[in-house]
Amino acid sequence: MTVTSRRKPPSPEASEGVPSRIRELVADLNRHLRLYHVEDAPLISDSEYDRRFRELEELERQHPEWVLPDSPTRRVGAPPAEGFTTVEHLRPMLSLDNVMDAEGMQGFDERIRRMLDREDPVAFHGEPKLDGASLELVYQGGALSVAATRGDGREGEDVTANARQILSVPLELTGAPETLSVYGEVLLPIKAFERLNRNRGERGQELFVNPRNAAAGSLRQLHDVDVERLRSLEFRAYAVGVGLPDGVATQREVMAFLAELGFVTSPESRVCASVAEAIAYHEELGAKRSDLPVEIDGSVFKVDSLAIQRDLGMLSRSPRWAIAFKFPAHQEHTVVEDIFTSVGRTGALTPVAKLRPVFVGGVTVSNASLHNQDEVDRKDVRVGDTVVIQRAGDVIPQVVSVVLDLRPKRTKRWVLPSHCPVCGTEAVRPEGEAVTRCPNPACPAKLRNRLLHIAGRGALDVDGLGEKLVEQLLDQGLVETPPDLFALTRESLLGLERMGEKSADNLIAALDKARDTTLPRFLIALGIPEVGAGVAELLATRFGDLEPLMAADAETLTAIEGVGPIIAEKVASHFADESVRSEIERFRSQGVRWPVSEPRDPSAEPEGRLAGHGFVLTGTLPGLSRSEAKARIEAAGGKVISAVSKKTSFVIAGESAGSKLRKAEELGVRVLDLEGLLALLAGELPLEEEEAAEEADAPS
Ligand code: IVH
Repeated sequence: MTVTSRRKPPSPEASEGVPSRIRELVADLNRHLRLYHVEDAPLISDSEYDRRFRELEELERQHPEWVLPDSPTRRVGAPPAEGFTTVEHLRPMLSLDNVMDAEGMQGFDERIRRMLDREDPVAFHGEPKLDGASLELVYQGGALSVAATRGDGREGEDVTANARQILSVPLELTGAPETLSVYGEVLLPIKAFERLNRNRGERGQELFVNPRNAAAGSLRQLHDVDVERLRSLEFRAYAVGVGLPDGVATQREVMAFLAELGFVTSPESRVCASVAEAIAYHEELGAKRSDLPVEIDGSVFKVDSLAIQRDLGMLSRSPRWAIAFKFPAHQEHTVVEDIFTSVGRTGALTPVAKLRPVFVGGVTVSNASLHNQDEVDRKDVRVGDTVVIQRAGDVIPQVVSVVLDLRPKRTKRWVLPSHCPVCGTEAVRPEGEAVTRCPNPACPAKLRNRLLHIAGRGALDVDGLGEKLVEQLLDQGLVETPPDLFALTRESLLGLERMGEKSADNLIAALDKARDTTLPRFLIALGIPEVGAGVAELLATRFGDLEPLMAADAETLTAIEGVGPIIAEKVASHFADESVRSEIERFRSQGVRWPVSEPRDPSAEPEGRLAGHGFVLTGTLPGLSRSEAKARIEAAGGKVISAVSKKTSFVIAGESAGSKLRKAEELGVRVLDLEGLLALLAGELPLEEEEAAEEADAPS
């Protein structure tokens, strides 16, 4: 890639004699392209953009002489933004042509077979269409030299410094050709996206519309770069531009080549022997979509044979041998019937739009959070407005924007009520904060939502304790503070309406199970502002137990890598609160407990015999709880991870172990049962390298 200057805009004469509708569409589409790609803040839905784009395409098709030089149909992305150095791509970065349904897919297959003059089915490589920001990585002599965004396809922005922070971008490759360019997608996993927006919301910053915009925005940070955000990005590779070795003959082998070099590729990919199989693959992928950790917006089919790909060749913007088969739109229009205020577990008053029910992204949406007053003001959402609603994968539905053209007369700006709608206490919004809160510690809405939070999967995970049951427990006065949950008895539960013996027993058993928790889970259950799973894990590792953490001042907390001054201050002041301390005492006296570990610097490389070894736990280990097993492995320096890969050292398989055990066997990862684990921890079972050393030492 070469560094170039910015390109000149098209000359004004070029548009002379072109009808105004075309000029209007070109200007309008270019503006929306910029908002989307450069500012990461789209104003209209993707489907509305596509509609206007198709109108322009049709006009240009009828009158090719009217195609303006800056028409968006002539390019594949948006020009690079000011502020980044531009780099020219080694080869133009292409886009993909789209189809929306099985018919379109069949049309694509027929076109290909017609061009090849072939009746036999063509095999396709099916892949998820990753919904992120595309990126080219160029390696020289095995070292990463440049990372560039797509930009306009010809030249993109040099984002090398930021890309180097992404953990799945390899910085050095072994066995790579002298020059190698790899294409792929930068993604923000959905969980990380939700966390990012939650934090931004709490700080009064503008929210990202979807994981794609958040990924693009993170990759293109120019000032005060937030390294944590970059680390939460993921790079998945899907193509090679330059440097493919000779023997590689299919797209499937391209993916294997990339994986061998250490790139992450989509595990959901596979070869489809015919178009019928491709359509089935697309449907399967659609059914799995909401379970995937990253956002996808369709499937991509590439002719598997690279020789056939070469025969088919390229169009100006896209290859003839590949197609994107998109899922139905995840954005729809609907009407805001009302805006009401909900009160959360921290007392935060959240405006919520009550919507005319609309089917979007596979579910019917009738409510969408508007987050806070600033967000309502920014979007100026009013009762009666028509809005663009978006729901992506698992992501909570969002109001993207208001369709101002459709606003009825005499609407009013919306403002939060001055008093808590549940208990009537006057609400407060501290200076400089985005959130307005109900300050009443006894507000019933707070208690209800705290109980639901505590019962949640990330916190104490009380199976079966849902909204209805919580309401009943509160109505009957069985629970007045969160620790009361653990004082519930079978008898007291049986007094509730519609509570059978079996349900009562189940809840008691679930509470028993939840009592045995881990320190990070307990910290999450406490609902300390700014403390999510990542920070809870850091705090637990650094202090090992709750008492030393409670005694730590903000300065000690800030010294932990990954804990900034804002978080430190929130944690310290939370534990300084007498009512928090007495609540913790009551949780403990109700038997809530966790394994204690040796305090350790979370950023230091772990020490111990198992350092550098990854463990995956699967199935139940008789007599050893999962959290206990994790604590003991970590105490010996090992790391407990969730997914099995070639790099995993051990899979610990208990009773009824499932797919992770199969995967371990497939990959040849060492499998141990409980006894094996205990022997390993006791130093009675040698590690592989110790075995090798012993063999080397042994006299032959
Ligand atoms: S291949 C030569 N494969 O979709 C073809 N692209 O709409 C280059 N995308 O610019 C692209 N998932 O950013 C390819 N599995 C996948 C993809 C993928 C997502 C993106 C990519 C491309 C855009 C086209």
